[in-house]
Amino acid sequence: MTNDALKIVAQRAPGFVPTVAVVLGSGWNTLTDYLERPVRIAYADLPGFPQAGVAGHGGELWLGSLGSHAVAVMSGRKHGYETGAVDAMHAPLQALQALGCRVLVQTNAAGSLRAGMPPHSLMLINDHINLPQRSPLVGQTGSQRFVDMMKAYDPVLLAQALKLAQEQGVSLHSGIYAWAFGPQFETPAEIRMLAQLGADAVGMSTVPETILARYLGMRVLALSMITNMGAGLSDEHLSHAHTLSQAAAASSGASELLAHIVGNLVFE
Ligand code: HPA
Repeated sequence: MTNDALKIVAQRAPGFVPTVAVVLGSGWNTLTDYLERPVRIAYADLPGFPQAGVAGHGGELWLGSLGSHAVAVMSGRKHGYETGAVDAMHAPLQALQALGCRVLVQTNAAGSLRAGMPPHSLMLINDHINLPQRSPLVGQTGSQRFVDMMKAYDPVLLAQALKLAQEQGVSLHSGIYAWAFGPQFETPAEIRMLAQLGADAVGMSTVPETILARYLGMRVLALSMITNMGAGLSDEHLSHAHTLSQAAAASSGASELLAHIVGNLVFE
């Protein structure tokens, strides 16, 4: 499956060797406006890539340049809540790693658990809580599956991202992301529990991909766009439409920052 996807990429973008993979979540799709010389390939043409099924999530692989890097951008991801399977991103991430990607930059929309981090804030993820305790590595064999999750979010890349945001005059929070399986939003009691556990934000994605990326030896940087306060922390009514409208409002600033960060990361 991976080899078939690699062949298609080689046909559509001959000689293109991306070193950074980016996964775009809700609100981050305008990053593709910043790509130079973009080539787009529908997931439908790429064996093993997910057939996206959630409004607000595209289904295309974009290849192009951002600053000093050749990048492969997945516009659209598969979530655990769509089918119950949490390993749907294994094949695409494996393909991107095989193409040359050394770094995975992830983005998502999330609810905030911190009063000082209101909607439209941006948060770098510095650690996560895998609340469902589900793993995309179940069924793998060999000792490689026992992945070290210390420094899962690369401290060197985190420091670079903070500095790059500062240079742009954009305030960037850092915090812990809790994975809630979804698709229902949390109850206020669950939000209080997550806050007590030390989480700063909550969302329904990202954690399986981080585990997969570490398994595949890729370094991870991840950013959350806050679209709402966690359930019960404000009188907002939560819905997917609300997430998308809040994400759209913060989208252009977030993508501009993301393009600057990705284009200027320094790594081997
Ligand atoms: N909870 C879970 N996922 C989310 C939220 C939330 O409040 N907001 C955006 N994605």
